[in-house]
Amino acid sequence: MTEESIYGKYAAYLPRVMEDIAGKIKEYNEEAKRDHGHTIYEHLIYRIKSEESMAEKCERRGIEKNPYSALFTLHDAIGIRIVTGFVDDIYANIRHIKSISNCSVVEEKDYVKNSKPNGYRSYHMILEITEPFEDVTGKIPGHYFAEVQLRTIAMDSWASLEHEMKYKQEISDQKMLVAELKRCADELASCDISMQTIRDIIRNG
Ligand code: GTP
Ligand code: MG
Repeated sequence: MTEESIYGKYAAYLPRVMEDIAGKIKEYNEEAKRDHGHTIYEHLIYRIKSEESMAEKCERRGIEKNPYSALFTLHDAIGIRIVTGFVDDIYANIRHIKSISNCSVVEEKDYVKNSKPNGYRSYHMILEITEPFEDVTGKIPGHYFAEVQLRTIAMDSWASLEHEMKYKQEISDQKMLVAELKRCADELASCDISMQTIRDIIRNG
């Protein structure tokens, strides 16, 4: 017997929703390059949350492991990450995403302006996306969700290393390391501001 996906029959629609939004983000970047000679992000990655991670998250949240939980209660079955060269580009991408017609922002967290206590910086948005096919509630057009994270290269490198180290709990003197990581995050943020200033001077002459 083959076990059914936690996404049910909607598993087949998820890549279409993801490609739709990621495609529009890519197109805008290509337009920017053509029209202004520079891109507004360095890289774009996206993924559908694996069955195992989604099941584990439902368990952690104490909700049933079913398609409704995976697609409607939780909002990160689709994850998109936009990594930019400069802080201003984060906001340029946000403005564009907000202008996409079948997309609306249902939640926003600006951890760029308000960093987490550990130093984490990134801009998070939950998008609600309307598509001409059925969703888990049976409605057509259907509604799907995606989590978008926007960060600079510096913020991204810090988040990757911090994420990796989080799981190495056996390390002694955690307190000192947490404080050191926070210091690194703040130093990187200060570099991001300097790089932004340098670019502004170059562009504005
Ligand atoms: P989730 O259950 O993770 O979705 O929690 P949430 O929605 O309450 O939190 P939030 O929106 O703040 O974080 C969502 C995602 O952002 C996480 O899954 C991580 O990818 C990333 N993130 C948030 N905080 C941190 C952090 O302190 N360090 C790193 N490396 N990543 C983080
Ligand atoms: Mg989240």
